[in-house]
Amino acid sequence: MSSVSYAFLDNAPVIPVIAIQKLEHAVPLAEALVAGGITNLEVTLRTQHGLKAITLIRDQVKGANVGVGTVCNATEFDSAVDAGANFVVSPGQSDALFDRALLTNIPFLPGAVTATEVMASKEAGFNVLKFFPASTSGGADAIKAFAGPFADLQFVPTGGINLDNAASYLSLSNVRAVGGSGLTPADAIQNGQWEHITQIAREASQLGA
Ligand code: 3PG
Repeated sequence: MSSVSYAFLDNAPVIPVIAIQKLEHAVPLAEALVAGGITNLEVTLRTQHGLKAITLIRDQVKGANVGVGTVCNATEFDSAVDAGANFVVSPGQSDALFDRALLTNIPFLPGAVTATEVMASKEAGFNVLKFFPASTSGGADAIKAFAGPFADLQFVPTGGINLDNAASYLSLSNVRAVGGSGLTPADAIQNGQWEHITQIAREASQLGA
């Protein structure tokens, strides 16, 4: 059983899922989110800049708790932790990822959307799971149903979650936080509209309050 603390998720209802298209965006984007009260930042490995962005944010953005997303294998897990990621999120799960996570003190959120995947995660020792893609995997109703057989597990749904529907997830007792890319619109980043992103973050950080 993983004894790692997931306290970083306390009082932090929303996690932006970030894809950095240009490395120079990483620091101002993270600063804009932190200014709006969003401190857990999931920087994905979907672009070539992911790892470098994690290091820049860790080193330069006070108040940010930077993690990594879209981690699909143990090599990526290690690279992200070396780069400075404080938590690791995967869209799915594998024995290799479970094993790697259990060797570290890094909070790991494996992805699970079926009862079988939830059971495998639990058996491996993980109690806080990413539920992705949420909207096409049964949405809030599916997570609510998991509260019966899996009362001791918590979920962080992502995929199709926005400011309008986040509350329906966050109202569930077994939802620890929600995630999404909507907090970091690509056009706003491209145009350097950092104040706009701070405003979105401010609104998001009030959810579930
Ligand atoms: C993720 O990896 O969590 C999702 O891609 C986020 O989904 P969204 O783009 O629908 O918010």
